[in-house]
Amino acid sequence: MSDFNSDIWSWFIGIVSVAGILACLWLTWWMSAGGAKKDEDAQTMGHVWDEDLAELNNPLPAWWKNMFYITIVFGLVYLVLYPGLGSFKGMLGWTMYNQLEAEELAAKEKYGPIYAKYASQSIESLGSDEAALKIGERLYLTYCTACHGSDAGGVTGFPNLRDSDWLYGGSPDQIKTSIMNGRTGAMPAWEAPLGGEQGVHEVTQYVLSLSKRPGVDEKAAEAGQTKFMAFCAACHMPTGTGMQAVGAPNLTDNIWLYGGHPKQIAESIAKGRNGRMPAHGEFLGEEKVHLLAAYIYRLSQ
Ligand code: HEC
Ligand code: HEC
Repeated sequence: MSDFNSDIWSWFIGIVSVAGILACLWLTWWMSAGGAKKDEDAQTMGHVWDEDLAELNNPLPAWWKNMFYITIVFGLVYLVLYPGLGSFKGMLGWTMYNQLEAEELAAKEKYGPIYAKYASQSIESLGSDEAALKIGERLYLTYCTACHGSDAGGVTGFPNLRDSDWLYGGSPDQIKTSIMNGRTGAMPAWEAPLGGEQGVHEVTQYVLSLSKRPGVDEKAAEAGQTKFMAFCAACHMPTGTGMQAVGAPNLTDNIWLYGGHPKQIAESIAKGRNGRMPAHGEFLGEEKVHLLAAYIYRLSQ
């Protein structure tokens, strides 16, 4: 509550809040002081409903009246202890930030030694530690399913993490690096350099021939090969088997990140693709990433 650009608002809220509570206090007292003291003294207020239902000036029942007083006292005590009156911070100094900090600190003290123990073991050896894999799985389900699917099987544009086909490499260290630092696939758009639709068609046919797809237009593929060597081999290698250093996929294995229909492949080539794996190192901390890497590594084995 310290975001006011002028003290006036702080005072305004404080005074209105306290005045409101005091008004309730006075109203409760007044309503119970003015009426009859005993049932026999009760007089009608002159209001009658349904022919014979009269309003008397009996006081509020004690339990009801006291509940109002308790609520009022609670409200006043709360406003003294906690922030609520304009920019007054409350005597306890509570904020949602220091509560979060305290909870995080407690969690760190409780779980820190467990994570530290796992962090000192290799990712391969954690692959046979059921307790570690369970933690890894839980982390995966919290942070990764939205993109890679709850079974890590991937969807179009988001790679399968269970198989042995890797864009950036499937060694423990490579997997950990992917998660820590994130990855950005940079496949440029080739429509213009390839001279338009015809060029894209030829290279697409050649790419299809790399994974031995039936029904390839041989003549177009032959023309496409020359272009492939000129424009694509630098990243996808002359053999088409890809390069993990830049995340260029293997084009010979019939596993497709962006779909294997000739139209989808042609679109990848013409428009380019830019998949982005966000970095999780700073956000999760290395110890959690270590367990995640162990879980993914184990899945793919
Ligand atoms: C916002 C979506 C998104 C989230 C969340 C996400 N990823 Fe990814 N991840 C991707 C994309 C997209 C790629 C592929 C990047 C590319 O195309 O170059 C990828 C790539 C990877 C790779 C490299 C795969 C390979 O074949 O080399 C690994 C490993 C990975 N992610 C693990 C994880 C883990 C573990 C988490 C959870 C902590 C996670 N990802 C969360 C989108 C995401
Ligand atoms: C600068 C390096 C680079 C060059 C040059 C390059 N690519 Fe790529 N290519 C990539 C990367 C990286 C990806 C993966 C993009 C991603 O992960 O989002 C990719 C993806 C693809 C895909 C999609 C694969 C899939 O699994 O869905 C196809 C098809 C492809 N490239 C074909 C080509 C062709 C044909 C050429 C030449 C005209 C070419 N690439 C040139 C880096 C390159």
